[in-house]
Amino acid sequence: MLDAQTTSVSIRDLRVTYGTMHVLDGLNLDIAEGEFLVLLGSSGCGKSTLLNAIAGLNTVTAGKIMISGQDVTRAEPKDRGIGMVFQSYALYPRMTVAQNMGFGLKIRGMAKAEIAERVNHTAKFLQIEHLLKRRPADLSGGQRQRVAIGRALVRKADVFLFDEPLSNLDAQLRADLRIEIKRLHQSLGNTMIYVTHDQVEAMTLADRIAVMKDGKIQQLAPPAEVYTRPANLFVAGFLGTPKMNFIEGEISSGPQGPHFTTAGMSFDLDRISSAPLAFTGPATLGLRPEDFVLCPEGTAGSLEAEVTLIEPLGSETIIWATTANGTQLSLRLGSAQGQHLPALGTQVFLQPDLVRASLFDTQSGQRL
Ligand SMILES: Nc1ncnc2c1ncn2[C@@H]1O[C@H](COP(=O)(O)OP(=O)(O)OP(=O)(O)O)[C@@H](O)[C@H]1O
Ligand SMILES: [Mg+2]
Repeated sequence: MLDAQTTSVSIRDLRVTYGTMHVLDGLNLDIAEGEFLVLLGSSGCGKSTLLNAIAGLNTVTAGKIMISGQDVTRAEPKDRGIGMVFQSYALYPRMTVAQNMGFGLKIRGMAKAEIAERVNHTAKFLQIEHLLKRRPADLSGGQRQRVAIGRALVRKADVFLFDEPLSNLDAQLRADLRIEIKRLHQSLGNTMIYVTHDQVEAMTLADRIAVMKDGKIQQLAPPAEVYTRPANLFVAGFLGTPKMNFIEGEISSGPQGPHFTTAGMSFDLDRISSAPLAFTGPATLGLRPEDFVLCPEGTAGSLEAEVTLIEPLGSETIIWATTANGTQLSLRLGSAQGQHLPALGTQVFLQPDLVRASLFDTQSGQRL
């Protein structure tokens, strides 16, 4: 839990129910002032439901939402000190860009001159000054999304909410705007809550990522920690391209202490940092594609596999290989190693870097 003084958004035991379906069922989350928090999860896990609850756009069944120390659970969206950007831009087609950006201020009764001043200042900041007189139909997708961001910014809100703002854009524009959003956060320093199902956006933008599944937060941690120390099999499999390799095996206790055994390989658990001592039973070893090196035939502790596919990606190459018991493994080779690529159909020997490995209880899926 965060210090009350530095907490920007605080969510307690939040429940949102549609009919008989509990989309969120007792969710708790604290977001620090100035933090960039990313809600990451697959379609239908409840990301938008959570964001809309913070914005006041849906009805909360139970629980409490605090923004900047105020209980806003029942407050109108306009009274919550938030600015929101939607995937669909939600611009008014008949209004110019300037009118779209200023509309929220106008309905709050702000003086014309001040609206113009704020709109011009924000347009300059977002480099869309030259678009102010156009209508949304005469803009590209990227320009429309910049206008939608501008409309949120003019409100000088404490908290900005983004719901998949880049999903409708092509790959290059996504990458460009992603960098702009990061710069925006660096220069404004506001709290930002950003919904996406794109793991690259999550990894590059977030101070912390909340990985969601079925309305529950599976892990809440900085990107590097989510990547290197996933809390469970779901998180481990969700982040990373290709995804983490899972090797099914068994942890049993032996004379030298517990060890992990799988087809063709066995090692003492003390080779994995902070390894569990108490657990025995079915376990899954998780290794990222970059956590292997190719080694000479017969190296102790190596896995033998047949190369089934080679994906050259320029800066790196992904080798897919299958072990004798049918486990498919992916291996990432940097461009330096890429000069000695194994050939398709040959046998390779892979040495796992066990210090970087993760171990999971296969039954519960939890990290050991
Ligand atoms: N107004 C509604 N009435 C009934 N069910 C809803 C409503 N809004 C959302 N749901 C359901 O709640 C669940 C969560 O929806 P939500 O929109 O929060 O998902 P999401 O994580 O944002 O997904 P996506 O990535 O597809 O946008 C889904 O099963 C959805 O069908
Ligand atoms: Mg959504």
